[in-house]
Parts: sequence; C-alpha cells; structure tokens
Amino acid sequence: MFEARTSFRAEERERNVRARTRRSAEFYLRAQQSLAGGVSSTIRRGARPYPLFFERGAGSTVTDVDGNDYLDYGLAWGPLILGHAPAVVAEAVAAQARKSLTFGAQHELEFEVAEMVKALVPCADLVCFACSGTEVVQTALRLARGVTGRPKYLKFEGHYHGWDDTVLVNYHPTAEEIRAAAGRPIPVGTGQRAHDTVILAEWNDRAAVERAFDAQGHEISAVICEPLLCNSGCIPPAEGFLGFLREITSASGALLIFDEVITGFRLDLGGAQAFYGVTPDLATYAKALGGGAPLSALAGRREFMDWIAQGQVLHAGTLNGNPLSLAAAAATLKTLARDNGAVFVDMWRRGERLRTGIEQALAAAGLRAVTSGGGPIFQVSFMPAVATTYRELLAADTALYANLVLALLDEGILVLPDGRWYVSAAHTDEDIDLTLQALERALDAGPGLSRPDRQERERR
Ligand SMILES: Cc1ncc(COP(=O)(O)O)c(C=O)c1O
Repeated sequence: MFEARTSFRAEERERNVRARTRRSAEFYLRAQQSLAGGVSSTIRRGARPYPLFFERGAGSTVTDVDGNDYLDYGLAWGPLILGHAPAVVAEAVAAQARKSLTFGAQHELEFEVAEMVKALVPCADLVCFACSGTEVVQTALRLARGVTGRPKYLKFEGHYHGWDDTVLVNYHPTAEEIRAAAGRPIPVGTGQRAHDTVILAEWNDRAAVERAFDAQGHEISAVICEPLLCNSGCIPPAEGFLGFLREITSASGALLIFDEVITGFRLDLGGAQAFYGVTPDLATYAKALGGGAPLSALAGRREFMDWIAQGQVLHAGTLNGNPLSLAAAAATLKTLARDNGAVFVDMWRRGERLRTGIEQALAAAGLRAVTSGGGPIFQVSFMPAVATTYRELLAADTALYANLVLALLDEGILVLPDGRWYVSAAHTDEDIDLTLQALERALDAGPGLSRPDRQERERR
C-alpha cells in the first residue's frame, strides 16, 4: 500500500500513456533522425515516457497527435497567459501576416506596444524589443557594464537567465556538483567558455550579498534576479530582501535588474515590481508579453536606457520589433489591461483554488508536500517546508513528483516536470474542479482504473 502511494502506480500509468500515445512515439523516433535529440530545446528531452507531439490547442486544452486532450498547466512553459490560440491574438497575427511578416524597419506597432509596456511597468521609461528572454538579459547586462564601466555582475544560485555562457552557471547544480565546485561557478553541460564575470550568492542571503559588495563592489555592474524565483521552486523573496537589493545596488552605483521573463504580465499587470512594490533600474520580459509569439523586451529607467537610445550600447537583431510578434503582444496586453487588469483577479482566484486544493489533497493522502508562489504561477514540491534557497530545495523528492506528473498525464492533466504550474486566463472553475478530481484519482493507491476504463464505465 505504502509502495503504491509513493509510486502513484507509475508502471501502470506509463503503460496507459504509452498505449494512448503511439503516434507521438513514432514521431519521436522519426524526429530524432533529422532533428538533434528530436526536440527543439534540450530541456524538453526529459519528458516521460517520451516527449509528446501536439497538433492544436484551444483555451485551457491542448490536443496531441493521437487525439488526446489535456488540461494544460504547462502553457508552453509560460507564454500562453490567455490560453491556447485566443481568438483576439490569432486574428491580430493573421491580419498582420496578410500585410507583412516583417519590415526590418520602423512601423506603428513598435511604439504602440512600447507605450503599453511603459504605461504598465513602473521602471519602464523606455523599452526595446528582441525575440527571446536570453537576448534581452544579455542586452541588460551589457547596458549595466556600459553605464558603470564595471566588468562583473552578481547572480543568485538556482536563478535562470537564459542559455548564454555568461549566465548559465549554478542553475540547477546537484549537491555533489556544489561540493566539488567549492564556490567556483558551475556550468551546465560542456562547451561553455570560461569567464570570471559572475559573482554568486544564495537567494535571500543578505550577508552573502553584503560580503560580495564589500569585497568587489567597485567591480559589480549589476545584481540580476528573478524577483520570485520561479525557475527553482517559486521561492519568494524573504521579507524586505528585494528592498535590500534595491538599497545596496543604489548605494554602490550598480544597477538592479529584475528578470521578469516569467513574472512579467503574469504575477500582476505590472509584473513582480508592481506586485512587490520594488522598482528596479532595468527589467527583462518575454513569455507572457507575446502571449505565445516570440517576443522579448528590455524596459528601464531613462538615464540608463538613453545609452541604448544614443547608440553607445549596441542593441541589434534582424527580427527585433517584428510586426507579427508585436501584433500578438498588442492584442495580449490590451486584453490583460482591460478594466484595470480585472482578468488578474480571476486568474489569481482560480489559481489559488487550484493551489490550495492540491495542497489539501496531498495532505489528505498523507504526503509531505508544500506549495509556493500563488495564483497564476506556483510550485508543488514534495518536502516538509517551503525552501528559502535553492540548496534547501535540493531536499525535494523529485522522483516522487515525476511519478505524479505521469499519473496526472494519464488522467489528462499536463504539467511541467519541474513542479511549476501555470494558470491562464482561459482556465475556468470547471477546469479547476476537473483537475482536482483527476488529482484525487492520481493519488488513489487502490487498484486503479485507467482513463479509457473509466470513460467506458461512465458511458454505461
Ligand atoms: C527567468 C527567465 N529568464 C530568461 C529566460 C530565457 O528566456 P528564453 O527562453 O526566451 O530565451 C527564461 C526562460 O525560461 C526565464 O525563465
């Protein structure tokens, strides 16, 4: 019985999923013959039993190539803030596609969307666009170096700022890697060029940040962080920690950069900076900004962004500001901003219903689990207390969570493998009810019924 509870009948669940996703399995084999790894981002390789292939989505539901529907809480790793294929965005993109895919030159949507970002984001005096979060983080760090003339920046362990060599360190190191590195930066994979521009600290560790500034403050151009640590357990900032970062950077002449690629237009209409009431110098956006289209933005205070405006700091890119992505962003932001962001009230309410429902169901099943974050973005972890640093998060039982992911998949609920749940404006109260019912079944250790069996029984 205990064994059944702690495995969530993983073998049976896997058999069920495999039987129902044969076309995905075939596609995956075929894709690997031409597409490196059969996926377009290394991080997607980890899916169990194998990466699924999808055909279409509508609202909160996505459909795979075998015709299975899933209630989707992965939302393409975050961008789909309005759900799949929202009509208002799809129509805006289609209308723009008929006019032009891209100009490589100026057009009206650029300043229209920049004006919207400016109106919503506290630190945004000026804005510039690119296509991915990785790119605008690099622009932000370059700008900080240009403005301050200092070579280094401070990053927190467990925070993700894209895949460039300069930031892809101490992302998700194992305890063994941390021990072996003895404080030196830990790259991900091989092939990264060595550099000595990063100073590391643990999230929420004031003393470590103070020590870094005492020792190397004259070299630190910026502190960058995910204001809510979404990439590692949705660990919130400790009381006053963001304010402390604001003060210490201002005092030393370094810039404070919030990487809002996840929190932007998701936690709140004004992102984490509005949510927590701390205004950084620069902020980076992607994901929800484009509502699913490839778009990112750097927003910041005029005195710093002027260095880009005047050409001292280069920001370039062939597809920067392309009208297709900006048409999607204009439609997305207009929808989100309607009635003063009323949609966020609903998203928070439904997200909280789901988060607390999950927490209660896991507790009732006798499992030691916690949730963190809230509303439109939260994390479920199998551990006794919410972590305050990445290292504490290493205590989470990720193998058990992987089994739960598989059981939920078998129940028609799609969640990300790392414990993060995204809720969109398209998720309804009924979706939340169905999800909590599916979770109850996933947690049921008894001799289970697979979904087809259950559908059959319900038909009778
Ligand atoms: C906080 C954060 N910053 C930056 C990035 C990189 O964005 P992109 O994948 O668009 O390059 C991500 C991606 O997940 C992210 O979560």
